[in-house]
Amino acid sequence: MRIQFPEISMFRATAIAAAALLVSACTTMDGSMANSQTMVSPILTTPDAVDDRTYAQPQVARVTHVALDLDLDFDAKMIGGHAVLDILAEDDAEEIMLDSNGLRIDRVTDAGGNQLPFTMGEAEPGKGAPLTIQLNGARKLRIEYRSAPEAAALQWLSPEQTAGGTYPFLFSQGQAILNRTWIPTQDSPGIRQTWEARITAPKPLDVVMSGVRQGEPEDLGNGRRAFSFVMDKPVPPYLIAIAAGDIDFLATGPRSGVWAEPSMLDRAWREVNDTEAMIEAAEELYGEYRWGRYDMIVLPPAFPYGGMENPVMTFLTPTFIAGDKSNNGLVAHELAHSWSGNLVTNAVWGDGWLNEGVTSYFENRIVEKVYGSQRAEQEAALAYANIIETLDDVGYDAPGTALHNDGSGELIGSAIAYDKGHFFLRTIERSVGRERFDAWLQQWFDNHAFQPATSRLMLADMQQNLVRSPAEADQLKLREWIFEPGLPNNVAKPDPQAFATVDAAVAAYAANGTIAAGWDSWTAAEQMRFLDNIPKQRSAVQLAALNEALGLSETGNNEVLFLWLELALANRYDPAVPQAEAFLSEIGRAKFVRPLFGVLVGEGEWGRPIAERIYAKTRDGYHAVTRGGIDRLMAADAN
Ligand code: BES
Ligand code: ZN
Repeated sequence: MRIQFPEISMFRATAIAAAALLVSACTTMDGSMANSQTMVSPILTTPDAVDDRTYAQPQVARVTHVALDLDLDFDAKMIGGHAVLDILAEDDAEEIMLDSNGLRIDRVTDAGGNQLPFTMGEAEPGKGAPLTIQLNGARKLRIEYRSAPEAAALQWLSPEQTAGGTYPFLFSQGQAILNRTWIPTQDSPGIRQTWEARITAPKPLDVVMSGVRQGEPEDLGNGRRAFSFVMDKPVPPYLIAIAAGDIDFLATGPRSGVWAEPSMLDRAWREVNDTEAMIEAAEELYGEYRWGRYDMIVLPPAFPYGGMENPVMTFLTPTFIAGDKSNNGLVAHELAHSWSGNLVTNAVWGDGWLNEGVTSYFENRIVEKVYGSQRAEQEAALAYANIIETLDDVGYDAPGTALHNDGSGELIGSAIAYDKGHFFLRTIERSVGRERFDAWLQQWFDNHAFQPATSRLMLADMQQNLVRSPAEADQLKLREWIFEPGLPNNVAKPDPQAFATVDAAVAAYAANGTIAAGWDSWTAAEQMRFLDNIPKQRSAVQLAALNEALGLSETGNNEVLFLWLELALANRYDPAVPQAEAFLSEIGRAKFVRPLFGVLVGEGEWGRPIAERIYAKTRDGYHAVTRGGIDRLMAADAN
């Protein structure tokens, strides 16, 4: 019998052999695992899985377990202590290379306390510096170190930046390559590690991490407490996360709950109390939730993202709270990452769509199950509009518009990795039928659980386990979807009826300025569709009328408020400036902050001075991720 996909079959064989070699390296003479408690995940060694954003050489020596013992110092804005790393290495490996960025390394020893020589190489911007340690036969390393006050993963908030106003707050953001600013390990998404941590913090702060808390905190009698955590499943190190502050907890179900500052907790709980239903929906779709607990923490508004899928502890912006759950697709999204991203992980960041696109599709399926197909279809239609708008803008042949990219170019907003990725899976689902598609996706999660993946591996898996013939693969345009720019013409478009009412209202408004009644009863997605699609050029009189009729500046939904501010500033509408200033002073979420500064800067002699005046005040309050984006934007337009 002919092998159907010769090239791909060979590729699979190579990848698996390489993985087996490394796993066998850690078995003892009698064949049992060296450490029966630690599950060692394979790595991928094919060329498409080589991560050029790490200094690690995992085929020579790699980290399998990280044990942190760290103190949080809010005054010095530093985390310090030691990390003990378990190493899996070739017998003749002389050294191990770790990632680091701004770390001060004080001492490295082996398990017996003998010093091991180490060197810190030259730093590259963003990537940091290689930390090379001579092994001298050691398979356990103890590194004494501390982070720098400017560590990009960490944001140290003053009491004024919290809702309570009394205590400081700390949170970390690891994705993509920021954790090397506070943890000396191999910071690559294809090198999975189990971990544990003991963290001390001043009273009365509570500490949470993306691992399961062990027992009650220990009072150290010196005004500090120690908290212990364990993550016994191998995770990519970008998923190690910490937060500390004056926070309390409320359960949303038997295995889920939410942490937030006391004054935020009730509002937060009411927004996310469908979480248990979401977990159940997700399990019905693609199999058991494998991480035990699913807790969330609602952070102060400086958090630079909407959400981050830190295992067992999703991090959330407070800006998604609208009072009506309209933005809690965010929770469905971060929850879905418990399969796509955290269970099966992009081996390299250029294949980020494997995390974000699959998750965006999965998110939509959860939303459909929990809130019905109308809401799901409206949200899908917004995603589709984002793809089209972006492709119209950058061009259908722009190389960055392929799902797989070589990692060199910045991803184009969220339209490609998230929305094109989502529509790829949707297109296959609609073509082969849900039953077949869902069975395939579930086996993808099961068969690659706790392992890295690449675009090529996904394509190979579809060819082996989803399609019935090479002809069907061609018909689905699998290769084109993954590797070519633009949008294949078999895309399963959203239902044109999804926004029928709103689209009619947009047309009427564009034609004669009629503002439709019923805005208040529209869904948030409908309101966003309207604001996205009305004519972009508006006079001050028109903007005032719109705001008056729709109460835009009073909306409790930050997504809607953002669209209003963007529209207003793009039209140099002075009355909106104070509110924009308040918004930008309070909120550090890059998705909102960057475009608003972008619009202001784009409005030249009117907007640039406003942008500069506001940014001078707000810059210090932003996370490094947000700050980096605005700094570039301001600099790019300076000439
Ligand atoms: N993993 C991402 C956040 C992220 C992406 C951090 C890239 C660093 C680099 C998270 O799951 C996410 O996608 N968040 C979105 C949520 C939205 C799509 C529902 C966000 O923050 O807006
Ligand atoms: Zn995501």
